[in-house]
Amino acid sequence: MRISVIGCGYLGAVHAASMAELGHEVVGIDVDRSKVELLQRAQAPFYEPGFEALLSASLASGRLRFSTDIADARDAVVHFLCVGTPQKRGEYAADLRYVEAAVESLLQALKPGDLVAGKSTVPVGTAARLAEVVAGKVPGAMLAWNPEFLREGFAVQDTLHPDRLVYGLPAGSDAAVARALLDEVYASIVAAGTPQVVTDHATAEMVKTAANSFLATKISFINAMAELCEATGADVIQLADAIGHDDRIGRKFLNAGLGFGGGCLPKDIRAFMARAGELGADQALTFLREVDNINMRRRIRMVELAREVCDGSLLGKRVAVLGASFKPDSDDIRDSPALNVAAQLELQGAIVRVTDPAAIPNARREWPHLDFADTAEEAARDADAVLLLTEWRTYRELDPTAFGAVVTQKRVLDGRNALDRDTWEAAGWSYRALGRRAG
Ligand code: UDX
Repeated sequence: MRISVIGCGYLGAVHAASMAELGHEVVGIDVDRSKVELLQRAQAPFYEPGFEALLSASLASGRLRFSTDIADARDAVVHFLCVGTPQKRGEYAADLRYVEAAVESLLQALKPGDLVAGKSTVPVGTAARLAEVVAGKVPGAMLAWNPEFLREGFAVQDTLHPDRLVYGLPAGSDAAVARALLDEVYASIVAAGTPQVVTDHATAEMVKTAANSFLATKISFINAMAELCEATGADVIQLADAIGHDDRIGRKFLNAGLGFGGGCLPKDIRAFMARAGELGADQALTFLREVDNINMRRRIRMVELAREVCDGSLLGKRVAVLGASFKPDSDDIRDSPALNVAAQLELQGAIVRVTDPAAIPNARREWPHLDFADTAEEAARDADAVLLLTEWRTYRELDPTAFGAVVTQKRVLDGRNALDRDTWEAAGWSYRALGRRAG
């Protein structure tokens, strides 16, 4: 099948290479020339495990190419919209300018019978509006919404082996045609028995925002429990393990710590609240404001905890920050809790050195005033406190005895509840973590 993918960021680039892997002829289109050139040379513009190998293989197969020219989408029958929908500056609502620009430029390449398949996360109601634009300008062309649920760090696996397919189809006779086209695109995934939810535009759009809101709520729930544990001396890890054994609750996404960040959860819950307000249903989502508040309070608490262990003042204290990306196995620093904490520590007078296995170039660009080091040992040299803020495997596996030799004070703050407390304490470290009592 001939496919175009508009927008080659984390979502689009992985989608384009994955669709070629599934056997389709794919052109990935992006307005950013340097990104297109990198991709065409089989170089990933971002860090994502497994992506570069997939990209090389797909390019070598001859089924994948990248372009800056929308006219190259003309041969395609299905056109995936994979552009970003960031938070608007100074507002909660999503900024749809990239989606609108993508559709506008795609109109010149569309033919009757083509399907535009939106993957970006958009406010409910967007698909219906765009469907009218598409059908109005190119009679016979259709639009469906087919949200993507990939997690960064697992993007390739999640795209090739999704846990469900959601099709938000147009009304009327177009529905069957659009469904058949999507089934052809995902033929091998459908054949593998992947559950499908076939629905309308609005439900498909809402599935995505509802899923992200649920995940954010689950994380903030356990972080609210962590606040209570801190107030009572209870232990949030044991609490999460115990409630997680109930399979109605489940242990996943109950990891207490510094909370959620990244390019999706924070802005998606805010955009969802903004959209609910526009629809006159804001009360339904006021709880998400609390979810957001709990999440942001964790960052403040982490800074307080650092001050506490540094004898009540951060002024002139050397603090090592392990991790800069918003989660491990990613170089994405959008709304990174780790960098947010690092910057607050620095503003309060600490001498902060940040390290990360992949995100330093991005972090340095956005936060040039912070000091960066290539390794954990370098970041922690002569440190008064070490903060683990993103749980990369290499930090989880640090040997506390050897690592203890480089610091001035063996104080570790585990912002992700990712270290083995006993091992670190046995090596002479004082260990503090969110939601757990002091040793
Ligand atoms: C998320 C959704 O999981 C994905 O389905 C959607 O398509 C995009 O948004 P992603 O942003 O890649 O994916 O990250 P995710 O793994 O969901 O983690 C989000 C944040 O929550 C990270 O900062 C992570 O550290 C944090 N988190 C996650 C916790 O604090 N505790 C947990 O238990 C789980």
